[in-house]
Amino acid sequence: MFHGNRILPLVAVAGLALGGAARAEPTVEVLHWWTSGGEAKAVGELKNSFEAAGGTWIDSPIAGGGGDAAMTALRARVVAGNPPTAVQLKGPGIQEWAEQGALNDVQDVATAEDWDAVLPPALAAIMKYNGNYVAAPVNIHRVDWIWANPEVLAKAGIEAMPTTWDEFNAAADKLMAAGITPLAHGGQPWQDATIFEDVVLGVGGADFFRKALVELDNDALTSDTMVAAFDQLRKMRGYVDPNFSGRDWNLATGMVMRGEAAFQIMGDWAKGEFLAAGKVPGKDFICAPTPGQGFVLNSDSFTFFKVKGDDNIKGQKLLASLIMSPEFQKTFNLAKGSIPARTDVALDAFDDCAKLSHADLLKAIEADTLVPSMAHEMAVSRSVRGEFLDLVTEFFNSDMSSQDAVQQLADAVKRAM
Ligand code: BGC
Repeated sequence: MFHGNRILPLVAVAGLALGGAARAEPTVEVLHWWTSGGEAKAVGELKNSFEAAGGTWIDSPIAGGGGDAAMTALRARVVAGNPPTAVQLKGPGIQEWAEQGALNDVQDVATAEDWDAVLPPALAAIMKYNGNYVAAPVNIHRVDWIWANPEVLAKAGIEAMPTTWDEFNAAADKLMAAGITPLAHGGQPWQDATIFEDVVLGVGGADFFRKALVELDNDALTSDTMVAAFDQLRKMRGYVDPNFSGRDWNLATGMVMRGEAAFQIMGDWAKGEFLAAGKVPGKDFICAPTPGQGFVLNSDSFTFFKVKGDDNIKGQKLLASLIMSPEFQKTFNLAKGSIPARTDVALDAFDDCAKLSHADLLKAIEADTLVPSMAHEMAVSRSVRGEFLDLVTEFFNSDMSSQDAVQQLADAVKRAM
């Protein structure tokens, strides 16, 4: 049932008996939130590889961009003593669950396949607890992207993608004057926080981002720079259409596709959506980093929960091995819009947005301007992130002043720390 060289190390570590009569079959129940067109296509690749390797895949999708609904469902499952075998989970959340003793490790697979040699050390550290891998990364998503419909830009006489927030505002004003919605946005807390953190990077730079959104430094949170970031966010509130409230992110991407809006500020899962709809990068849609220097990192990973039974344990090991295989990292990321987490996968088959992401990632590592996403759960605990999301959303949907916003944000963060 198991073919190919890729599976041999796994067979060795898992001690699977080929052709054994009553042996357990690898089984996984996978909890994830990949339900949009591009996301479903990408997770379908994982399911297909798992089944082709002889495993049984039980799909547990929980709709809701950014994964907040999925995390609520996960908590309920663990509390009920019935955790899923594998969960799309990332960043500090991995450590939080590991500290509660809720995770199995897959270190034997990682050792046999030498994951340490092929993962960026910063990413490997996030996947480990007490030195052992408890999660496997599938990709590197970049959060600080602007997507645009070039035909719409041309209609309004905009010749280039904005490289500063002033240029962004000037382009948006032109679009408004031409009767075109400048910014396709979905008013959900995680989407508000996504554009907010991109603005913080652009306005304050990577060091400021780290101080404010990762180290939660009170001076940074209450600084004039943070006030300026909220001022820019206030401007952007004026650039969305009247129906933005509650809209899913992929519907906002659809508005750019159809020319109903010019720009979307969203991570490169939006590219997965354009691609799934048959759109061609560089022609039907274009990409550019949001104004500023740096790279906002978001990496999806699967975390292995404490489950019993040989079939489930074999399922976890098989899934871990497949996720980290170079072939899977290529196929999956071509569909997902991201780039491989492994550093040794050639990018020849990838488009120019992916190649730019990779080049900028290396530059950001070199210049120390790589920052973890707050909005996408790479930077701070869930409770602190919750405070950011609440406040940013309240600001976006009210006439709160930027001064009040920074003060309330700093107070809320202090309470949650
Ligand atoms: C995840 C992506 C996902 C996006 C929208 C992000 O937090 O990292 O994989 O596509 O949310 O659901």
